[in-house]
Amino acid sequence: MVGRDGIAFAIPLLIRSGIRTLTTARSNPQAGTDILWIGLAIVAVAIPRSGFQTLARLNLIGTSRSVEYAIRGDLLRHLFRLDASFWGHTRTGDVMASATNDLNAVRMMLGPGLTSMFESLIALPVAIAVLASVNWRLTVAAMLPAPFAVLLLVRFGGIIRRRFDRIQALFSTMSAAVQQTIAGARVVRSFVREKAEQSRFEGMNRSYVRLNCILGLYASTLDPLLTFTTGISVLIVLWYGGSLVVAHQLSVPNFVMFTTYMAMLVRPIASLGRVVNMMQRGMASVARLQLLFDETPEIDPGAWLEPHEARSNSAQEAAGGISLKQVSVFYGSHAALDSIDLEIAAGSTLAILGESGAGKSTLVKLITRTIDPTIGCISFDGVDCREMPLTSVRTLVGVVPQETFLFSITLADNIALGVGAVPLDQIRHAASIAGLDPDLAALPDGFDTIVGERGIMLSGGQKQRIAIARAILKNPRILVLDDALSSVDSVTEQRILEHLKGVMAERTTILVTHRVATAMRADHIILLRQGHIVEQGTHSALLEMSGRYARLARLQVLEEELEVL
Ligand SMILES: Nc1ncnc2c1ncn2[C@@H]1O[C@H](COP(=O)(O)OP(=O)(O)O)[C@@H](O)[C@H]1O
Ligand SMILES: [Mg+2]
Repeated sequence: MVGRDGIAFAIPLLIRSGIRTLTTARSNPQAGTDILWIGLAIVAVAIPRSGFQTLARLNLIGTSRSVEYAIRGDLLRHLFRLDASFWGHTRTGDVMASATNDLNAVRMMLGPGLTSMFESLIALPVAIAVLASVNWRLTVAAMLPAPFAVLLLVRFGGIIRRRFDRIQALFSTMSAAVQQTIAGARVVRSFVREKAEQSRFEGMNRSYVRLNCILGLYASTLDPLLTFTTGISVLIVLWYGGSLVVAHQLSVPNFVMFTTYMAMLVRPIASLGRVVNMMQRGMASVARLQLLFDETPEIDPGAWLEPHEARSNSAQEAAGGISLKQVSVFYGSHAALDSIDLEIAAGSTLAILGESGAGKSTLVKLITRTIDPTIGCISFDGVDCREMPLTSVRTLVGVVPQETFLFSITLADNIALGVGAVPLDQIRHAASIAGLDPDLAALPDGFDTIVGERGIMLSGGQKQRIAIARAILKNPRILVLDDALSSVDSVTEQRILEHLKGVMAERTTILVTHRVATAMRADHIILLRQGHIVEQGTHSALLEMSGRYARLARLQVLEEELEVL
């Protein structure tokens, strides 16, 4: 850029010598050829000038793209580290808006924004210095409108930034609305909410357009205003400079050179408006991205281990015993679990029963370390979980969640999600234990069928069986089924559990369920109610107690008899 502008500044000098040659042409027989040479020199100067310009632009714009690439990568890595505490208070749409619009604004600031800013910032002082060396009085006069231009830039800069902030906030809300409408499309349709959702969205969309138009108006007023101030400068130069020429205080060649420099300055000054616009948008976006980057996960993930390291670290010595001591979990001021003491022996099976909201999933989240206890301590084989790297815990524990997410990849890849490349035999085996055989027969391409969002839609029960196969294939020391069989009928549930017997015998298993028929398979049963363990023991001990469990058992036997009828 410096090279480029250095070259550009040679042009008015050449023009000046051209005019000098012309004014002395009568006494100089060489004048014609001199003029030709000067003309050629101007052309020769212009060629590398555009070459420099192209190189400089390519360089800066390439850099801004790499910066954008790096920030986007960092952002995704950062988002992966954030846990439930972050996603609980953030809309997916906001994050999506930041990842697209804010990143774009930052790139514009670093690429075209910085390019134009450097162009202007280098061009202005150099030009002023050259002008002052020709005639400083005329230079000062030409600069008179400058404070007005600065005032304009500052005023408009503030306005643009505030306006852009509002636009980005609205864009976030709109992205969130789009994301939720798509995610909840089925609900929207089944409750005939399309019209209402559409008009709500249309309102936002209209404001978005209106706000953008207003911002565009401000941005596009700035450019002509700046051009107007430079116009006044040119006017001053013509008038005052002209009178200097008449008074023989300024030579004609110098006057022409002066005005040529002035003309060269119009573009960088006018582009300052664009610079301010891009810089202000960029800064607003940087601030918003910074907020996102400042989020920290509530659970310190500890050292990041590759899954195979974590596996070999933990799997060898891990027996799979879990111990909870005086554990409480608060969501705000509400205790989801209250002073729980629980010993789960390695290799045993624990069943957790309780009505919805009792705290069952919260207990599961503790064991998978999705959350940490507010008070108390949970340990695996005697090691406080807070002293274990998060990846070790996650490798130790395999969970079949209440809600499963399937990726738009083949069934086989979905099952092998946690383990990477494995022989199809192993996938087939896991699928078979999970009771997927009848479903497989119905799928067009078997294991190669694409499922999930952009593939075949599966029923809730089928998804759960895939999730079970996923967990089995991962071969964890601790297997957790969080109400994972709730969407299959009780006959299928018992059949799957029968298949799972072998898998469960080798490891610690936790079954969250509301069926007594499932709970009775466990070595130990706990009954949760409002965050407390209200009854616990073996199936027969609990029946003898004639408490809630016994009542539930009687009720469910009755239900089954009714079902048979
Ligand atoms: N992320 C959360 N934020 C606030 N409250 C929650 C959250 N998750 C669960 N709860 C509350 O904690 C209690 C226990 O929830 P949960 O463990 O999901 O129960 P269960 O799985 O037994 O139905 C409920 O009252 C529920 O409303
Ligand atoms: Mg639950």
